[in-house]
Amino acid sequence: MAELIVALDVQTREEAVEKVKLIGDPVGFYKIGLELFTAEGPDVVKAVRDLGKKVFLDLKFHDIPRTVERAVRSGGKLGVDLMTIHSVGGRAMIRAAADAAAEFGEAGPKILAVTVLTSLDQGDLEDVGISGRTPAEQVASMARFATECGAHGLVCSPKEVGALSGVLKAGTLFVTPGVRPAGAAVGDQKRVATPADAVRDGATHLVVGRPVLAAENPCDAARAILAEMNAVS
Ligand code: C5P
Repeated sequence: MAELIVALDVQTREEAVEKVKLIGDPVGFYKIGLELFTAEGPDVVKAVRDLGKKVFLDLKFHDIPRTVERAVRSGGKLGVDLMTIHSVGGRAMIRAAADAAAEFGEAGPKILAVTVLTSLDQGDLEDVGISGRTPAEQVASMARFATECGAHGLVCSPKEVGALSGVLKAGTLFVTPGVRPAGAAVGDQKRVATPADAVRDGATHLVVGRPVLAAENPCDAARAILAEMNAVS
């Protein structure tokens, strides 16, 4: 069954803890990204874990293999469940991340590869030297490459999941942001899908931020999304 991850896109540990408590039992998984981690560091990871929640640490590592290996090891020591790397970091870097995660056994962090940032279009790819391929072709190629090198899964748009889930090995994790319940404000997301569509297409984890955090009643908003997900799985 697919899991809901709420993106804790807030600025302070106090706000993060307040939101997690407010949402309560329905949600067991939270994403801590660059904004919150840069402000509050490992303490905020510990605070969310102390509330009994799983943590997706979304820092998108891209560095030499040794540095990424050591950063993943630090994440494993913090007890996080999911971490992100950029697949353009290359074969040795992805393998180093996966090997460091494996040191923690089954309970250790799972490594998710970012393929092509959804903010990039064809022109942006050409600017960085990737020509002759559409973003979709580049995503598919990077996804195969990253999972062959040991990444446990991918962060991808819900619009990409359907095409990828059929061609990658069974058990690959598909973590999709850009999810909006029917009728919710889209905000700056451009290519959105409903929770039901994302699950139907093969997403294993749905990342949702504003539709939950900015709701009048975040707990009810999360429950509504979970109901939509569970109606499919
Ligand atoms: O508020 P919203 O539901 O749009 O939040 C989605 C979360 O997923 C944010 O933390 C955002 O940074 C992240 N994300 C995304 N699109 C990607 C990758 C990550 O929206 N392609």
